[in-house]
Amino acid sequence: MEKIDWHLLTATPSEEGEKRKLKVGGKTLCIVHLEGKIRAVGNRCPHAGADLSQGWCEESKIVCPFHRHRFDLLTGKGDAGQANFIPVYPVKQVDGKWYVGIKKSWWKGW
Ligand code: FES
Repeated sequence: MEKIDWHLLTATPSEEGEKRKLKVGGKTLCIVHLEGKIRAVGNRCPHAGADLSQGWCEESKIVCPFHRHRFDLLTGKGDAGQANFIPVYPVKQVDGKWYVGIKKSWWKGW
């Protein structure tokens, strides 16, 4: 079974559609406030490496600021024809604080 480390998000966006770039657990994430919940995805666009936290939200997708590829914030899937995706990380809320889950690297031991 894969082990997950839960990391406290020290700053979360509070407005609908607001985004924030955060380094968590050795990864650079784009944290998004979507429909009252916090979502966490990889911050680097797989097309040419743009910073997705500089993009914007449309419906439940984040739009890359460079060439406007769109990625679903729940599944990470790129729109039809893009043939790409971004990683999506699990989040949970405990006692009013948000945590993001990042798989433990096998080389860090158990
Ligand atoms: S770098 Fe994101 S769409 Fe090109």
